[in-house]
Amino acid sequence: MKTEILMMDPDNFDSSELETAGQILRDGGLVAFPTETVYGLGGNALDSKASEKIYSAKGRPSDNPLIVHIGDISSLDKIVREVPECARKLMEKCWPGPLTLIFKKSDIVPKETTGGLDTVAVRYPSHPIANALIKGSGVYVAAPSANLSGRPSPTRAEHVIEDLDGRVDMIIGAGSAGIGLESTIVDVSGDTPCILRPGFFTEESIREIIGDVDVDPVVLAKTRPDKDMKAKAPGMKYRHYAPKGEMTIVDGERTSVAEYINGKVNEGMSQGKKIAIITCDENKDLYMQGVVMSLGSRKVSGEIAGHVFDTLRQMDELGVQEIYAECFDGCSLGDAVMNRLRKAAGYNVVNV
Ligand code: TXA
Ligand code: MG
Repeated sequence: MKTEILMMDPDNFDSSELETAGQILRDGGLVAFPTETVYGLGGNALDSKASEKIYSAKGRPSDNPLIVHIGDISSLDKIVREVPECARKLMEKCWPGPLTLIFKKSDIVPKETTGGLDTVAVRYPSHPIANALIKGSGVYVAAPSANLSGRPSPTRAEHVIEDLDGRVDMIIGAGSAGIGLESTIVDVSGDTPCILRPGFFTEESIREIIGDVDVDPVVLAKTRPDKDMKAKAPGMKYRHYAPKGEMTIVDGERTSVAEYINGKVNEGMSQGKKIAIITCDENKDLYMQGVVMSLGSRKVSGEIAGHVFDTLRQMDELGVQEIYAECFDGCSLGDAVMNRLRKAAGYNVVNV
């Protein structure tokens, strides 16, 4: 399939530039587009054939449900059975924005879109191109992250082109996705709201809006969740984001971590291996050898989070065989960052 690539300026565009993209969605085709979290791969959420195309373009298991994206709040009622009070509060404070809510679904949402579940995930993105595309197309847009299944989520147009060129009808490129981690997911379909995936909206910020909230234990698990700890978001159970090189997270006091990692780098390099270190601006001078990759400053809000996926992708491009990453627990969006890094490392964590 020939993929049309459309580059746009998110700060200066005319909705008419999105007419072809809207037509593709109405015709049941696939369009990758930028959002404020990561790039998404869109198709008509109410067309089961379009959802099947999404699964096949990504190589994604079809029991892993898709998020339905809307362009205004009034579109919500048709696809959900009820909107509980806690959801209304969250929508008022966080929409449009990087929050996905899980509702009981109405009959018009096909099971193909929800991976066979009776619930549907809904997000109202704030990115101007995402918003103009969804509104202009007039369809509900199912959109998982626009990566091949198992690869890091795409934060730049190049990542999407790398994974999906030739597999989708159109890719809209528009610079970096701002936040760089996928949306926070809160399930509001049960008795107590529950965070299923950490993201830009933290547990504390959700609690401030609605009071009590549960957190799916899988989200914060420091070791590989066992079989009894079944992820409530099906996607959280899959191997994800993993670079080809063997990745280890090293937890402990700053200088002990650096000492341990430097020892491993020495050892690996003497065996002729290419080794990388994932660190931050404050610590990067502690490492003299190996490929030193800083995620940015721990002191700048959101900076570490914004570079996680791009850095993981670069590991494969550089042909790195072993990766050692510091912990980022205390920094901004630390829970969300560590959730992604632990998964990338297959929960391989050493304490020093
Ligand atoms: O920021 C985002 O949410 C991005 C952008 C493109 O909007 N999208 C995204 O989609 O991350 P995806 O498909 O990569 O991740 C969706 C997650 C999966 O873990 C999936 O299992 C979960 O949401 N999910 C979707 N529908 C669900 C449902 N009804 N119940 C529980 N989990 C659900
Ligand atoms: Mg994804």
